[in-house]
Amino acid sequence: LFKSDYSKDLEGRKIIVTAGPTQEPIDPVRYITNHSTGKMGYAIAKAAKNRGAEVLLISGPTNLSAPDGVKIINVVTANEMYEAVLNNLKDADIVIKSAAVADYRPKNKSDVKIKKSDDDLNIELTRNPDILYEIGKIKGNRILVGFAAETNDVLNNALKKIKKKNLDLIVANDITQKGAGFKSETNIVTIIDKNGNYKSLKKMTKEEVADVILDKVVDMILKKEG
Ligand code: CTP
Ligand code: CA
Repeated sequence: LFKSDYSKDLEGRKIIVTAGPTQEPIDPVRYITNHSTGKMGYAIAKAAKNRGAEVLLISGPTNLSAPDGVKIINVVTANEMYEAVLNNLKDADIVIKSAAVADYRPKNKSDVKIKKSDDDLNIELTRNPDILYEIGKIKGNRILVGFAAETNDVLNNALKKIKKKNLDLIVANDITQKGAGFKSETNIVTIIDKNGNYKSLKKMTKEEVADVILDKVVDMILKKEG
C-alpha cells in the first residue's frame, strides 16, 4: 500500500505523539542526552495526520521540522515534556510515546559554567518522572502506546513495561541489531499487546513501521467501540 491508499481511518481522533531525546542541563554549556533523532516519532505524527487525525507532536530537540498540518510543542527537558503531555492529555484519544526520555537529570544545575580542576568531578543525578507511567495511572479510555528500547531479553523486558505502565501496546526494538533503533532510517520492531500477543516485523522504514502501529491502534479503537 502507498500512503495515499489509506482511508482517513483516524478522522476525528486526537492524538499526542512524543518524539526525540530530552536534554538535561548540567550547567549553561553542558547537558546529558541520548542518541534519539526523533525520526520514529515524526514519522508517526506524519502518518497519523495523513490518516485524518488531529496531531499534537511534543518534541525534544531534533533537527527535524514538524510535518505539514501537525501542531508542535518543543520542549527540552523531561520535566517540560511531562508538563506538556499532562497539559494536553484531556483532549487526546490516543497517546504514542516514542520519545527517548532521560531517566535522570543532574540534581543541581549550575548557573555558571563548571570550571575544571585536577580532581574527579561527580555529578549527582536524580530521577525524572516516568511520563508514561504517570499517564498510565489516569489514562481512562485512552489508547496508550509505549516504546521499549532494549539491548537484551527484549520480549520479557517489554512485557514488564506494558504491565507496569498500563499500556495497550508496546513497540519493542533491540537497539543492538543493525538497521534498528537510534540513528537508523529503518527499524526492526516487535509489537506486543497487553494480552501478550506479539508480532515481530521484518526490517522496515520508520514510515512503514508508523503505519503498522497505527493499523493496530485503529483495530483496538474499533474493538473498544464495538
Ligand atoms: N518513558 C517516559 N518517561 C520516562 C522514561 C521513559 O515516558 N522518564 C517512556 C518512553 O517514552 C517509552 C517507554 O517509557 O515509551 C519506555 O522507555 P524505556 O527507556 O525503554 O523504559 P524505562 O521504563 O525508562 O526503563 P529502562 O530505561 O530502565 O529500560
Ligand atoms: Ca529509560
